[in-house]
Amino acid sequence: MCGIYASFSLNAEKRVFEGLKRIEYRGYDSWGVATLVDGKLELKKEVGKLSGQKNIKFAESKLCLGHTRWATHGEVTKINAHPHLAKNKSFALVQNGVVENYQEHKSKLIDDGYNFISKTDTEIIVGLLEKEMEHNSEKNLSTSSFINVFNKLAGRNTVVVITTQGRIMAIRDGSPLVVGRNSKRELYFSSDVLSMSPDVDEYLVINSGQIAVFNSSDSCFEITDIKTGKRVGVEFIPLEHKLDLANITMDIGKDSYESYMFKEIHEQSNMLLNVIRDSKQKFAVAVEMIKNARQVFTLGCGSASYATGNTAYLLRKIGILALTVEAYEANSYLELLNNGSEKSVCIVFSQSGETADTNEVVELMKRKGVKIISVVNMPGSTLTQLSNLSFMLQVGPELAVASTKAFLGQALWGIIISDILSGSKFNDLEIKINEFEYKLKEWFANKKIQNNIKKIAKNLTKHEHVFVLGRGDLYYAGLESALKLKEISYIHAEGFSSGELKHGVIALISKGTPVLCLVAEDENKANMLSAISEVRARGGKTIVIAKENNELYSNWIQLPDTNDYIFLSSIIPSQLMTCYMAVEKGYDVDKPRNLAKSVTVK
Ligand code: AGP
Repeated sequence: MCGIYASFSLNAEKRVFEGLKRIEYRGYDSWGVATLVDGKLELKKEVGKLSGQKNIKFAESKLCLGHTRWATHGEVTKINAHPHLAKNKSFALVQNGVVENYQEHKSKLIDDGYNFISKTDTEIIVGLLEKEMEHNSEKNLSTSSFINVFNKLAGRNTVVVITTQGRIMAIRDGSPLVVGRNSKRELYFSSDVLSMSPDVDEYLVINSGQIAVFNSSDSCFEITDIKTGKRVGVEFIPLEHKLDLANITMDIGKDSYESYMFKEIHEQSNMLLNVIRDSKQKFAVAVEMIKNARQVFTLGCGSASYATGNTAYLLRKIGILALTVEAYEANSYLELLNNGSEKSVCIVFSQSGETADTNEVVELMKRKGVKIISVVNMPGSTLTQLSNLSFMLQVGPELAVASTKAFLGQALWGIIISDILSGSKFNDLEIKINEFEYKLKEWFANKKIQNNIKKIAKNLTKHEHVFVLGRGDLYYAGLESALKLKEISYIHAEGFSSGELKHGVIALISKGTPVLCLVAEDENKANMLSAISEVRARGGKTIVIAKENNELYSNWIQLPDTNDYIFLSSIIPSQLMTCYMAVEKGYDVDKPRNLAKSVTVK
């Protein structure tokens, strides 16, 4: 999952650098730009994060194409960074996706004498284009040659080229691509709509199977369906409209926080009400869809899969047959989808709305007649377009790669829908959420509690492994807590049900082993206390996240003073601890190694 940003504007290269920084959360192994200067394409490429680059001298140009990379094929090197320049230097190319049949193309090109300089699947596309141009005796890449080659690629890809003729051509199939423009008739391409907001007033989404062509010579911009060859209407939507819808303020500074993640964790105490803002009617529609469904599925990846897992758990507790589907394991559910799928509903969570693993299953479900209810945090994303009913989380831009406020918003959405199905009144829920936000603010402001979390985090940095126990209402909270610890502080954290402990895992508990335990004041408390005493009996160190203390706890992290939404509050200590641990170890909290914010490749 990479980031693409292109610009036709005054100081185009500078604009592209700024745009790439705004989409760097999508991939930050390396970056590159191809800028048209006096009829030639000049490349700048580097390994590492753009935000780390100082004193860049921007070329004077009106046309530039840039890319930030998350490596799929080929190490993180300058040569493998995009854009890739054609041997004949007539075009440069960037790609977002995976060419699944690149090996067969590569061997044919090598047999044809093509000399590869990188180890990427991307360069295969460059080679195929050059061969196509040779075959058609083209000096400059034509749209028909670009389409012909694109149709030979297997997998979900978005490919953008810039030519020495001053043309930008983009074909999308899967990975997102939007186009924006402003009153100065400048034009921008990007992987996400929010990143363009400082540059554009209106935008449109390039759909899968379309090619967009912009000629800087006459500012002509056209979109064509690559299957039918028919021109597609170009209708730009005012960007402000979408941002209002998503209740997204473009305040994307860090304020006084040292990282976006730390800021976004604290924003959780004042954005939960946005999840239901102006959505009373929509929730009523969703409730009816679920009530009338023969079968309810929930679907997501990573953190989103834990939020959907908890949602299915809550629906089952009120007698609704809900099945959790982890997107990457969806194949085993296909038979279930074959009978009566037209009466089935799938609830899909995805903060980006662009996760390839998720969207691929959604497309399959739709083909079988399943109705899609989605909860997304990115306006104009693919998943919103695929949905029968789509909710915007409205928690504001989440720029840290690890999901915190978006995850909490997704989980809250699931709690709300099950509360309404159980008979709660919408207005009562608004009051309850408002009160919870207040309790959360008090909790964040409690220095004693916060310093205790920081101290425990510091001690945890001395360990390589930590176990996270949850159960019942807090089972998925345990899994999400473990993921947070893994992905930011790189500690090996294993989350599982406390009931599982004595069935094997306890073999790993020895003197001093840290075990994080999430305890709710519910029917599972006694079971949790038994598990905690089993851990203590073997010398394990129990770090317990609970409302009240207990002599069995080696360390106690006090939760906010409310029994409401304990699923939400029980995760926040792990969000904070992983930040403190990463800072202690000198890691990048917002852009952890090997990860990206939006996994647009399978
Ligand atoms: C979250 O902290 C992770 N970075 C990752 O698991 C993420 O939740 C997953 O990739 C799904 O992303 P989505 O919500 O954009 O679909």
